[in-house]
Amino acid sequence: MPASTSSGAFPGPRLERLLLTGAAGGLGKVLRESLRPFANVLRLSDVAALTPALAGHEEVVSCDLADKAAVDALVADCDAIVHLGGVSVERPFEEVLEANIKGIFHIYEGARRHGVKRVVFASSNHVIGFHKQSEHIDAHALRRPDGYYGLSKSFGEDVAQFYFDRWGIETVSIRIGSSFPEPANRRMMSTWLSYRDLTTLIGKSLFTPGVQHTVVYGVSANRDVWWDNTAAALLEFMPQDTSEVFRDKVEAQPPVAPTDPSAVYQGGAFTAQGPFE
Ligand SMILES: NC(=O)c1ccc[n+]([C@@H]2O[C@H](COP(=O)([O-])OP(=O)(O)OC[C@H]3O[C@@H](n4cnc5c(N)ncnc54)[C@H](O)[C@@H]3O)[C@@H](O)[C@H]2O)c1
Repeated sequence: MPASTSSGAFPGPRLERLLLTGAAGGLGKVLRESLRPFANVLRLSDVAALTPALAGHEEVVSCDLADKAAVDALVADCDAIVHLGGVSVERPFEEVLEANIKGIFHIYEGARRHGVKRVVFASSNHVIGFHKQSEHIDAHALRRPDGYYGLSKSFGEDVAQFYFDRWGIETVSIRIGSSFPEPANRRMMSTWLSYRDLTTLIGKSLFTPGVQHTVVYGVSANRDVWWDNTAAALLEFMPQDTSEVFRDKVEAQPPVAPTDPSAVYQGGAFTAQGPFE
């Protein structure tokens, strides 16, 4: 799969063309920069407006993930896909259905039709959001989605497994915790994933041979992590950052009642959202 050996800061292999969906989003804007060493060309896509492509190493293709023909054309000529696009918070089912559920089916159908053999799927901690914060779980724990959004990510992981079993397309599903510049609250002290660690994990997910379908928790080396990544040991993901450096700032916030969902469940406030009637 790697097209060539790179020069520069990233010593590993390099793809010819890497598709990044959701490129206009919060993580997409960051990864548009940080994934640059991984490919000669980054194909950036979103349904929202993107700033123009930078000459040479970027190309912009607008696309609604709910449009099967458009996604098929989007995937053509790519060597791998980092799939971030879609609804990223709890929303009515009908919205989640279009962007996330139909969207991931279209991505894998495109991958099958065009011979793409590696996908990195931005899954979520909300696949297991109804586990209690007192539990320590690994990738084999029962999935307990905490809403329509979490259900769509759980479906996405099933799609990834199916397309490996049936078509040999390999995927790393990253159950991202909370990837923001810094943890915004007490829960995120456990779930925070730095942008640097996310970038490292995506690199491992793109280039580690034989991942089949691997589920990994995307979390930095925080003090109180609830997730065990033993099942994803082949990725050799060693996070470099920790939320600990933000502890004083976060703990200066008003305390949260111990019965508040944000203090009880791994999925936090998402467990108490909806219905949308
Ligand atoms: N940021 C986190 O902490 C976090 C945690 C868990 C999972 N994730 C997942 O990582 C991915 C990126 O997260 P983010 O924080 O950047 O979210 P974001 O909402 O900022 O970005 C998502 C992007 O997807 C695009 N999108 C939505 N519907 C679309 C459609 N129908 N067609 C094409 N594009 C569409 C949006 O325009 C947006 O730019 C998402 O899949 C999210 O579920 C993020």
